[in-house]
Amino acid sequence: MIQLYHVVKKYPPNIKALDDINLHIQRGEFVFLTGRTGAGKSTLLRLIFREELPSEGQILVNGRNIVKMKNMQIPYLRRDMGIVFQDFKLMKDRTVFENVALVLRILGYSRNDIHKKVWQTLRMVDLTKCSETPVIRLSGGEQQRVAIARAVINEPAIIIADEPTGSLDPEISQYIMSLFEDINTRGTTVLIATHDITTVQRMRKRCITLHGGAICEQMPT
Ligand SMILES: Nc1ncnc2c1ncn2[C@@H]1O[C@H](COP(=O)(O)OP(=O)(O)OP(=O)(O)O)[C@@H](O)[C@H]1O
Ligand SMILES: [Mg+2]
Repeated sequence: MIQLYHVVKKYPPNIKALDDINLHIQRGEFVFLTGRTGAGKSTLLRLIFREELPSEGQILVNGRNIVKMKNMQIPYLRRDMGIVFQDFKLMKDRTVFENVALVLRILGYSRNDIHKKVWQTLRMVDLTKCSETPVIRLSGGEQQRVAIARAVINEPAIIIADEPTGSLDPEISQYIMSLFEDINTRGTTVLIATHDITTVQRMRKRCITLHGGAICEQMPT
């Protein structure tokens, strides 16, 4: 599903954010990506959803080489992906409902279907009470749940989440992880970057640890 071959990412002047990464993630896997701050987790995820290009190496997603992919094809790649960004990237002045509904609007869902699916997803992340609230008025943890709702609403083939529980208290954090687990059992490939070692240990999933831009440890499930 996701394959990386000798991937290097350099930033000017001479930062090597990723150094010779080789990685295969099978369809339907649930994988954690851990490592200290600055280890390269977000950089690795950004390359997988083609926000950036690697300096060297090849990346295949769903059998397609995304390094060679033309910019106009990126929306088609993203259509298969639900992404939770570390900084959320929500439309701050729009309501919770609008933020979560956007993907479905782009895909041309009917008003009724959008309403049904958005409410179902907001119930899942316990945000029905703020559906009409502009995102800017929510707490960090609430915004994080909006970002998660937006990523999972279309049941994408791959979910990529960068610190999806970073602003959540332990109880909600545990609940959100079990939500990702449910989605995973329905066939979605899940890749989550996190600092939260306690969660990683509790969940007993495959875990890849980065250190200084290189993979230093791989724990199979
Ligand atoms: N756009 C950029 N320009 C220059 N350096 C960058 C850029 N993005 C990341 N880096 C550097 O690359 C390295 C890896 O950063 P990255 O954000 O991937 O780490 P991370 O593991 O996600 O950290 P955190 O846990 O704090 O989110 C760091 O040294 C960082 O300063
Ligand atoms: Mg990061």
